Order: sequence, then C-alpha cells, then structure tokens
Amino acid sequence: GFTPRVFSGIQPSGRLTLGNYLGALKRFADAQDRGVQSIYCMVDLHAITVWQDPAALRNATRELAAGFIASGIDPEKSILFNQSQVPEHAQLAWVFNCVARLGWMNRMTQFKDKAGKNAEKASLGLYAYPALMAADILIYHATHVPVGEDQKQHVELTRDIAAKFNHDYKTDFFPMPEPVIEGAATRVMSLRDGSKKMSKSDPSDASRINMTDDADTIAAKIRKAKTDPDALPSESKGLEGRAEARNLVNIYAALSDSSVDAVLQEFGGQQFSAFKPKLSELAVARLSPISTEMARLMEHTDEIDAILTRGATRAREIATPVLRNTYEIIGM
Ligand code: ADP
Ligand code: NA
Repeated sequence: GFTPRVFSGIQPSGRLTLGNYLGALKRFADAQDRGVQSIYCMVDLHAITVWQDPAALRNATRELAAGFIASGIDPEKSILFNQSQVPEHAQLAWVFNCVARLGWMNRMTQFKDKAGKNAEKASLGLYAYPALMAADILIYHATHVPVGEDQKQHVELTRDIAAKFNHDYKTDFFPMPEPVIEGAATRVMSLRDGSKKMSKSDPSDASRINMTDDADTIAAKIRKAKTDPDALPSESKGLEGRAEARNLVNIYAALSDSSVDAVLQEFGGQQFSAFKPKLSELAVARLSPISTEMARLMEHTDEIDAILTRGATRAREIATPVLRNTYEIIGM
C-alpha cells in the first residue's frame, strides 16, 4: 500500500474567490490537523496553456501563495510551492505524454470547453494539460486529490495513465489516486446565476466575492445578489428549486462552520433583505483577517518567495527519487 498523501494544485490566474476559499483553501486548512501529508502547488505551468501576461503571472502566483498562507495553511506542516520550481513535474509529464493515448486526450471535455470552436488555434500545451496534471499528482505518489467536479475526468485520466504505465512496465510503481470532490455544501455558486459555479474566470465581477474585496464591496455584492421574493424556509426542503436562495444559505453555513439546517432554524421566516446584511457581516468578519494578511504578505514578497523556495526544496526531496525510479523502470 501507499502512504496516504494529498496533492492539490490551483492555477495562478485571476483573483481568488470565496469559492476557492470555501471549496479549497478553508478545507485544506481544516484538514491540516488530521496529520495526512499535504502538498499544495501553484500550477503556473498549467496557467501558461493560455496566454498570461508575465508580470501578471508573477503577481498572481505570489498572491495565490499569500492566499494559502493567509487562509491558515501552515507551510511547515504542508508543502507549498510553485510548479515551475520543481522541474520533475515537466520531466514526468513527458514520460506520460508517451504513455497517454491520443484517443484518451480527445475525450477530455475541458479541452473542448476551453479551446472552443477554433481548436486548431489552441496551444499544444492546453491539449496535453491532463498529462501534466497526472505528473503533478504521481510525482508525489499522491493518493488523494481534492478537486472540483470539472477536474474529475482528469483524475480518472491520471488513473488510466498510472494503470497503463504499471501494466506496460510490469510494475506497481504508481498508485491509483482518488479524486476527493467538494460536496454540494462547499460548492459556491455565482451570485448572479445559481446554476453556475462562482469562478475567478467569470467575466462578471459582481458574480463573485474575491478574497481581496474590501468590506463595502462584499456588502454591495451580497446586497445585489440574485434571490427570489420568498422568505427563508425553516427546513432545507424549502430550498428546493431555489438555487440562488440555497447558495446564500450554503455560504452562511460554510462560513460559520455550521449546517444548512442550523442556519434555517435561526433565520427561517425572515426575508432575504434581513438575512443579507447578516451574511455580509459574517463574510467580512471571516475574510477581512485573511485579506489583511494577504495584503501584508504582498508587501513582503521576499517572505512569500522564501516560503515557496523552501517548499520546492521539500517537494524535490520526494519528486527526485520518484523520477529517478521512473527512468530506471523505463530503461534510462
Ligand atoms: P476557478 O474555477 O475559480 O478558476 P480553479 O478551477 O482554479 O478555480 O479551482 C481551484 C480550487 O478551488 C479547486 O479545488 C476547486 O474545486 C475550488 N473551487 C473553485 N471554484 C469553486 C466554487 N465555486 N465552489 C467550491 N470550490 C471551488
Ligand atoms: Na476551474
């Protein structure tokens, strides 16, 4: 058996949202005391599969790292680093490019979504992205991969690559990593459209709360968030078919480490006009210490860079022997 080990990567592109916080960063911080080794990566090599302005990329990478640290992920307990600082990711990805089949890559729905109609103009990197993601995970022999629903297919491809490698080379060298999908309770939806995930890549800034938004901005976005004219129900079945209402209740529950039922017990029967200010107050109380710490770190980028460099050294202690063994197995 393989020792349980968690790997997760986030792209440094755009601002971190409340969705990233509740669906990823907060969960990672909460999981940290369970003692499973966790490796968190700023996946800058993935980000450049579409054009990134160099200065913006550098800034977004540091801001993402600041988001991890400010959310309570302890860089001593977990390994926090930047993908491009650990060359073994790209090296193992090449091996996996030779293991993965074209037919497998052709089935990846995210490529189709991201490349759009004009796939001929997409970068080769965007197409090969899932093989790099497989390398990100397997270079650490990670067993558990927290991801959004949209990345589940890529973790399945990772398993296919591991299985084919193990089969072709008659080895059991790579583990079969499990996706750990965020639950409905931690999936944060757009404030403008309850059927869409809140995302840093949504063109509408009003659709999301950014982790760096100030108190007034957060309050204004919540005030304008789409709801329906009905009061909050006192039981969760009263949220059926009310995606926007449910989303705001979910957010309240997640931010207060409570449950939807408990929130409805407290607010059932009240109008959203009364609930929204309470939600704003809670969101500001939870996010403002984090955004303050992010801003402080962004004024001391040397501190961030030192943490990432130290994280890369620790990551390489695991990645170097895995790559060496892989090459050995292949006959190199
Ligand atoms: P984005 O969609 O904002 O570009 P990513 O795809 O880079 O975010 O996701 C990074 C991490 O944040 C993943 O673990 C993903 O599951 C989580 N995440 C992103 N958006 C949300 C959301 N709206 N609700 C819950 N988790 C989210
Ligand atoms: Na995404």
